[in-house]
Order: sequence, then C-alpha cells, then structure tokens
Amino acid sequence: MNPPVHVVTLDGPSGSGKGTISRAVARRLGWHLLDSGALYRLVALAGIERGLEPGNVQAHARLAGTMAVRFEAARDVEHVLLEGREVTDAIRTEEVGQSASRVAAWPAVREALLERQRAFAVPPGLVADGRDMGTVVFPQAPLKIFLTASPEERARRRYNQLKQKGSGASLSALSREIAERDARDSSRATAPLVPAPDAVVIDSTRLDVEAVLAQVIELGRQRALWA
Ligand code: C5P
Repeated sequence: MNPPVHVVTLDGPSGSGKGTISRAVARRLGWHLLDSGALYRLVALAGIERGLEPGNVQAHARLAGTMAVRFEAARDVEHVLLEGREVTDAIRTEEVGQSASRVAAWPAVREALLERQRAFAVPPGLVADGRDMGTVVFPQAPLKIFLTASPEERARRRYNQLKQKGSGASLSALSREIAERDARDSSRATAPLVPAPDAVVIDSTRLDVEAVLAQVIELGRQRALWA
C-alpha cells in the first residue's frame, strides 16, 4: 500500500486570510493546493450561466458532478477554467459568492464534490482551503488550522482586495454581505463552518501574513510533517 499523502487543512470564514495563507504554505512546501471555495463558486457560476432556477438542487448537483474544471498555477495567480474557459475573475464577484453559499448548503451538491476534492490529495502533499476540509473532506489530516479574524477586519481585507482589482464596493455593504454569508455557512445543517475538534484556532486579526505563515510552518514542524 502507498503511504498516506499528508494533508494540511485550513478552514475559516470569508476574509480570514485562508486563501493567502494556504497559497503561501503550498508554495513554501511545494505541495498542491485545493481551493474548495472555487469549486462551489464554479457550480454557482455554471448555474447562473445556464439560467438554472436558483432553487434547482438536482440540476446544480449534476453540474457539480460533471462540470469540467481545471486549475492552472501561474506565478502570481491560480487560473481557473470552466469547460476550457478562463473564469478566474468571473467566480470572484459577490453575486457568485452569495450564490455559492446557497448551493453549498445542499447536501447533494456537497456529496457530488466530495470525491473531486479528495482526488487533489496526491504526493508530495496537499494544502486544502475551505469550510469543511478538516471536519468532512479530510478528517484524518494530521494538521488542521481554523483561521479567524474579527468581522470588521475581514470586511476591510475584502474591501482592499476588491479595490486593488479596481472594482468598487462599499465597506458597509461588504460587511453586511459577509455577515449574511457567514451566518448561512455556520448555521446550515450539512458541513457547517465550525472548527474540527482537533483544529488549532488562529486569530489573525492583529497578525500579518508572515506571522500566520510562521505559526503554521512551526505547527507542521512540531508534528514532524516537514523539517
Ligand atoms: O471561500 P470562498 O469565499 O471562495 O467560498 C465561497 C462559498 O463556498 C462559501 O461562502 C461557502 O458557502 C462555500 N464553501 C463551502 N465549503 C467549502 C468551501 C466553500 O461550503 N469547503
């Protein structure tokens, strides 16, 4: 039998810095990266593009199981392709984010994405970013991080991110949308956003990327996941 592939999970609410930290950890270790939120966003975008009824669970679950998805790592960004088309920016809008959090509440959609996500765990290792990586998708992961930050700080980060991309957004509208999405993600019956019992919780409100990265790298070292 092949030795198990090491997986580090990073879960947490939107704007907690998971994406940035996961990418940095994967790059540092030379491991693969799973941006599971992008998969839910892709289901949502594909549904919108096909004009599916927002409440059509079966059609969205079918899309989740059959859509052709590719992630291509470039130097600075990870390109996301849906049916061969570049959708890297198209999946990052607030509209798609809200729709993603609605389709993500349906067990049939989550089930359809489960094996797709597990297939990312290949040597030399995987950093998995999401909401239920440590609780549902990779419950055996030897290192689980739950990254949080205050709601104000998370809204501010998202605001700066959008501003950098040149898209306008108001801070108060963003705070409201983030609060709405977090409430939906945390209260759903299937795979809600909660730390795994064995997760290490890191509050990044007052920490910069380097400081969080250093903590994660140190935790992996203590567990002999890397030197
Ligand atoms: O992380 P991101 O903001 O891209 O995720 C978009 C939405 O996808 C989240 O609000 C959440 O509802 C859903 N999601 C999920 N489980 C994951 C990752 C994302 O339910 N593992």
